[in-house]
Amino acid sequence: MGIELNRMFVDSEIREAVMGVLESGRYVKGPRSREFEEEFAKTVGSNYAVSCSSGSTALMLAFKALGVRSKDEILMPSHTFIASLNGFYHYGARPVFVDIDPETYTMDPELTRKAITEDTKAILPVHIYGHPVDMGAFVEIAEEYELPLIGDAAQAHGSSFRGQDIGSMGDMTCYSFFPSKIITVAGEGGMITCEDEELYLHLQALRDHGRYQGERDTSSIPGFNFRLPEILAAVGNIQLKHIQTWVDRRRELASRYSKELQSVGDIKVPSERKWGKHVYYLYVIRTSRRDQLAKHLKEKGISTGVHYRVPVHKMPYVEGKWELPETEKLVDEILSIPMHPLLSEGEQGEIIDSIRNFF
Ligand SMILES: Cc1ncc(COP(=O)(O)O)c(C=O)c1O
Repeated sequence: MGIELNRMFVDSEIREAVMGVLESGRYVKGPRSREFEEEFAKTVGSNYAVSCSSGSTALMLAFKALGVRSKDEILMPSHTFIASLNGFYHYGARPVFVDIDPETYTMDPELTRKAITEDTKAILPVHIYGHPVDMGAFVEIAEEYELPLIGDAAQAHGSSFRGQDIGSMGDMTCYSFFPSKIITVAGEGGMITCEDEELYLHLQALRDHGRYQGERDTSSIPGFNFRLPEILAAVGNIQLKHIQTWVDRRRELASRYSKELQSVGDIKVPSERKWGKHVYYLYVIRTSRRDQLAKHLKEKGISTGVHYRVPVHKMPYVEGKWELPETEKLVDEILSIPMHPLLSEGEQGEIIDSIRNFF
């Protein structure tokens, strides 16, 4: 079978929890999703958390709650997954792309400041690969220009800035529980954390056909059905209990990779800023021989990935000419190699040896 890029953790506790929901007869809007929200908020230190059906719908809810519409501009990196853009694109708002810091690959705050116009409606930094953006700088910019700050933390559960969890910073933080993510629900799922009670109630209503808590026959606002099913919330609850151990394990694996690969060929290993805690959702190396290395590893039964080959500004439906030299250079050189808490020392050794042999 070879070595996978990532692997999901399933144990008897998860199996029992799923069976428990099946037998309970309560499949939506029940105690498991409420518990998941409460525990998630506690884990990241936020006041509130709203569960939903995916990371993509978390972003769609967040931008709907802000009321973005056509002509609004959203500042975002192009080096991200396409869902970051689609979170507001459907409402007619348009992206303004900001280039990345060549060390952390996250959105550059100073370039962000320069890109602000009268039409800027929000800032959407992405904690790419699990490295936090410079939240200190982004919070300062957001406050100075009175702009909402929405963090895309789909890849960054447990990440922090100067010791503070990123899920408790900014106006809203959106998470994904897609199967490859640091915490998953064995399917599709998402969460939004926020600090403001009114916003929290608004997000809850938007997720449930526009019905505020207590409303049954009346929808006060037009909403969606973006709810998280109970079976998935039950899995998420158990996964969440392991977050600290899993993040520690990811960091341990990353540290060994970096030590053993930093002087191999022309490899550049990931950087971590002093102020940020990288949670290594992905371990991404850079090399000018990316495609040849990926082919070599595939022949050895080792899976790799490219996150992402086509930057968002180059998608066929995205308009405008953008100058993003760091982003464009990066996407030709990045390679994600296996990273997950279930990776054994032996498997990691095999990966390291295969990379060394290639160079
Ligand atoms: C940066 C980023 N944003 C948003 C998403 C969307 O999450 P989901 O796949 O749960 O819809 C993902 C998921 O891959 C992601 O990596």
